Amino acid sequence: MIEKFKETAKFLSNKIDFTPEVGIILGSGLGGLGTKVKNATIIAYEDIPNFPVSTVEGHSGKLIFGQLGNKKVVAMQGRFHYYEGYGMKEVTFPVRVMHFLGVKNLIVSNAAGGLNPHFKQGDLMIINDHINHFPEHPLRGKNLKELGVRFPDMSKVYNTELIKIAEEIATENNIGVQKGIYIGSPGPTLETKAEYRMFRTWGADATGMSTVPEVIVAHHQGMKVFGMSVITNVSEPADPNIETTHEKVQDVAGVVEPQMTKIITELINRM
Ligand code: HPA
Repeated sequence: MIEKFKETAKFLSNKIDFTPEVGIILGSGLGGLGTKVKNATIIAYEDIPNFPVSTVEGHSGKLIFGQLGNKKVVAMQGRFHYYEGYGMKEVTFPVRVMHFLGVKNLIVSNAAGGLNPHFKQGDLMIINDHINHFPEHPLRGKNLKELGVRFPDMSKVYNTELIKIAEEIATENNIGVQKGIYIGSPGPTLETKAEYRMFRTWGADATGMSTVPEVIVAHHQGMKVFGMSVITNVSEPADPNIETTHEKVQDVAGVVEPQMTKIITELINRM
């Protein structure tokens, strides 16, 4: 496996003349950030050796290398979800490759359902911890000890310094942000009312179908991690007849995208 990571990283390194310092997974809420990358070198996933190919509606698959603010970055436009049928090794493959490209920091965004009763649709949430509720673990199997330890400590995964900077940026720009625990579950179904209640009882503030695998792998290999969710729907809507649809999730994510983009671009500048 490690040879594949290296092979893919070498292929990509040959196309650029810098070392990206920051990796960004452009999930919901950050879709447009890719267009802000200057002097971009764009490589479609299907042209990258060993890369899985993205299929889900609303996500196109490419890597964008270039300059964002004062940093060299690599952004993933389109991620691989477990519910699409990928195994966790495929879901996290790009994050392993980022390590071999020299990336030291990972920024992740996603859409999530709000469980915390204080959350409203359209809120932004800084992730300060997570619960892994996926049935397959990305680190299962032989440990790649060149990359990290067999039993990684998980007590400080989301970097507290980056969280502090992001909160300062939000305050300076009059953007309200929540902070909380993200539970990653397999999907593709959204939760039943009973499942939303269960996740809340477990202590989670928001639920979604991504992020946790990539974050585990990033942390395993020693990257600093920052994650943010757009709360696209809430588990106890004022009108109980309101249903959650993929279209609604995307619409809400689009509305708050400028705010999330502002926080993330400025965070990258101040890292
Ligand atoms: N559940 C799971 N994933 C989601 C949700 C949700 O309610 N909203 C957006 N992504």
